[in-house]
Amino acid sequence: MFQKPDTNLTNALRAACGAENVITDAETLKPLGRDYTEDLQYEPALAVLPATAEEVAAVLKLCNDARIPVYARGAGTGLSAGSLPVYPGVVLVTSRLNRVLNLDMENFQATVEPGVINQVFRDQVEALGLYYPPDPASRGSCFLGGNIAHGSGGPRAVKYGTTRDYVLNLQVALPTGELIWTGANTVKNSTGFNLTQLMVGSEGLLGVVTKIVFRLVSKPQYDLLMLASFSGAGEAAKAVNEILLTGIVPSALELMESRGVELSANATQTPFPFQEGAAYYLLIELDGNDQEQLYRDAETLFPALEKCRVMDVLQADTADQKAKWWKVRRSIGETVKSASIYKEEDTVVPRAALPALLTGVKEIGNRYGFESVCYGHAGDGNLHVNILKNQMTDEQWNVELPRGIREIFELCRELGGTISGEHGIGLVQKQYLDVVFDPIHFQLMRGIKQVFDPNGILNPGKWLEA
Ligand code: LAC
Ligand code: ZN
Repeated sequence: MFQKPDTNLTNALRAACGAENVITDAETLKPLGRDYTEDLQYEPALAVLPATAEEVAAVLKLCNDARIPVYARGAGTGLSAGSLPVYPGVVLVTSRLNRVLNLDMENFQATVEPGVINQVFRDQVEALGLYYPPDPASRGSCFLGGNIAHGSGGPRAVKYGTTRDYVLNLQVALPTGELIWTGANTVKNSTGFNLTQLMVGSEGLLGVVTKIVFRLVSKPQYDLLMLASFSGAGEAAKAVNEILLTGIVPSALELMESRGVELSANATQTPFPFQEGAAYYLLIELDGNDQEQLYRDAETLFPALEKCRVMDVLQADTADQKAKWWKVRRSIGETVKSASIYKEEDTVVPRAALPALLTGVKEIGNRYGFESVCYGHAGDGNLHVNILKNQMTDEQWNVELPRGIREIFELCRELGGTISGEHGIGLVQKQYLDVVFDPIHFQLMRGIKQVFDPNGILNPGKWLEA
């Protein structure tokens, strides 16, 4: 069905984007065939690095006319293999689309290109007293375009929402070579179907985002960070909901299984106040503009924590201590990955169902004989389940484990949740999508795909084909 890039296409891409921005040598292409997902590696046929929206549109048109697959790629920090070139095709790298085009202080809005690093953007915004809350663990390297592609979240989502909640308008290149704006630069929009939100989370299957208009909020002046320890999964998970039922909304409410904390603190050589006998920790951050109020709010949380038999509660005294605790939290994913062959699941349920999910995951793990390290955005009911291969045989890993994962996802569905909260479906969760989607659901999504990409050249081989 697809063609492979040939000399004609290569020359046409060189003419469109500049010869130096078309990569054909295998050594330079190799890293573009993997991301942060497990140990997957594919072989891109070619990569192109356009620098403008018009160049992106030209690349798409050339590939569409020649029926060549296009894999849009940001920084490659994805955890569902969403950008990987499973067919030999063109990897469209957005790293040269890296300009912050406009910071609109009148409207608290910013227009950026997709290759801007999340942290670079947040630093620029914060220097102006504004705030862009979505903060994935990979914020130091991930691109905003990739955040859009997956609807990324992060610890601050519990109070501020995910990437989705900050996108007002998108410029998108289509396979026809046309550029469209999906909406308007307004906080309200009741005009037609919401193509902006359709694009968020569309994982490179419908078009390539070339400009993003974000809304911003004002930067909270103060924050306060607490660390609570618990002896059991049930208590820690229950405490999450008890905290939120007080009416106080923390700016982060993160759960960390102690095994993950150990791996992360050791690997990053970061001191951490381990509590003897603690099985789980909650990292609780409050933010706002009234410091005294934050202290009062922290006091209010104590009865909720005590109700769940908290072992100990610490408060970070210094900025340095806060940074260290956050470093341990943010490094869990990558340190678990370097400790063992692993799989990362991104389960999500209504937050009050978190105790049932967490205890259910452990019970399923016992039955199938796998070790899991659980952590994540507990305030959103979003639990990352990292499954370690350890001593499992290849047979157990490849044949039995998928059944266990399926059970975990079925539990998510029964609890009113779904199979990914922020990492997306991409390639690795494709086999489980039927747990939450009926045939009619697939049919509707395929219809949408066909309208945007009738030749199916955008990101083929993933969870949705034209
Ligand atoms: C995190 C990434 C894995 O929360 O989503 O650390
Ligand atoms: Zn996460």
